[in-house]
Amino acid sequence: MQIQQNISLKAYNTFGIDVSASRFVTVTTHEELIDVLKGNDLPLLILGGGSNLLLTKNFEGLVIKNNFSGIEKVAEDADNITLKVGAGENWHNFVLHCIENNYCGIENLSLIPGNVGASPMQNIGAYGVEVKDVIVSVEAIRISDYTVCNFDNSACNFGYRSSVFKTSEKGKYFISAVTFKLSKTPTINTKYGVINSELEKMGVSNPTIKDVSNAVINIRQSKLPDPKKIGNSGSFFKNPVISSQDKDNILAKFSDAPNYVQENGTFKMAAGWLIEQCGWKGKVVDCYGVHDKQALVLVNFGGAKGNDIYQLSEDIIKSVKAKFDITLEREVNII
Ligand code: FAD
Ligand code: EPU
Repeated sequence: MQIQQNISLKAYNTFGIDVSASRFVTVTTHEELIDVLKGNDLPLLILGGGSNLLLTKNFEGLVIKNNFSGIEKVAEDADNITLKVGAGENWHNFVLHCIENNYCGIENLSLIPGNVGASPMQNIGAYGVEVKDVIVSVEAIRISDYTVCNFDNSACNFGYRSSVFKTSEKGKYFISAVTFKLSKTPTINTKYGVINSELEKMGVSNPTIKDVSNAVINIRQSKLPDPKKIGNSGSFFKNPVISSQDKDNILAKFSDAPNYVQENGTFKMAAGWLIEQCGWKGKVVDCYGVHDKQALVLVNFGGAKGNDIYQLSEDIIKSVKAKFDITLEREVNII
């Protein structure tokens, strides 16, 4: 374990922003982490795969890259298996591991970049599934006193792209492992309409979880930019959730606005649609802009500064507010 000085973070964030960190260290065990924390008085940035970050300046502090590894079986019966997974494991590789072993529940979350440790942070979700549906607990080390704490599912207070780790407990914990309960009986979840149409296109009538994963991968590759080719952090904004009355007011003027009723009677509006209606889709400003196939994704074609992209997000928020009276909230963590 070696603390490096003044290193570029370009390879460590999928936006490809070239800023530096004054200190950088990779940790693989609790002991290493505690050693590092004990000797540190600088601001901290805990890093997974760097796929949900916008770095706006050089980081004058210590970046701790989480490389905790391992997939451990903690329980199994005829119906379910419970796995404890190191936070530094790659998320998609874990999904593939589960599919190969016929452990069901996260196949709809295929191809989401990043690591297992960040999955509870914003309760990653896609194609009708959220990771909260399969998380039993989250093991996290309290940074102030190095205590190992266990958050059960309800203590994580999961919501849409939210958890205690992104809100009330932000910055206070280092997530070291996540425990998942997966089903051994395949239950195919195709309630997100486009999965069915993709399966049809693939000529599949009785899908396996592998087929669902492949369908999700095809859909994602058709609209989301590959961060290896074009810098991005996925959806830059959350889909706004508004009251039924506000939704009706919008539909009175814009009858085709996509909207989805939530369990509590509120409505989720499609931020990508709102942004597209304001004329931003495919917009290129110098070397950055708005993705041409998905207006919710801001992109860096190479060489953009984090602040350029932040300013673009401000301009988008202003125009959506002016046209629809809705204030978009950023999903990406601004550092
Ligand atoms: P990072 O970006 O490294 O970190 C994110 C935040 O979590 C930071 O604040 C960081 O400090 C903190 N953090 C990371 N690890 C730890 C830890 N071990 N302990 C404490 N804090 C930690 N997200 C979705 O929900 N659904 C999608 O469909 C989706 N699609 C995407 C598509 C693309 C092309 C891209 C680039 C991103 C997408 N995302 C999506 C966003 C992103 O992949 C997820 O949020 C992912 O979970 C981030 O993981 P990461 O390891 O890269 O986290
Ligand atoms: N839409 C437009 N124009 C656009 C983009 C979308 O009109 O430019 C419309 C679509 O036609 C559709 C609706 O918006 O009617 C929803 O679009 P899509 O299915 O692409 O999903 P999304 O709401 O834009 C969300 C998540 C994604 C997740 C997908 C699939 C958020 C913020 N984003 O996107 O998550 O992969 O659903 O479930 O909730 C991420 O969080 O980084 C992310 C990529």
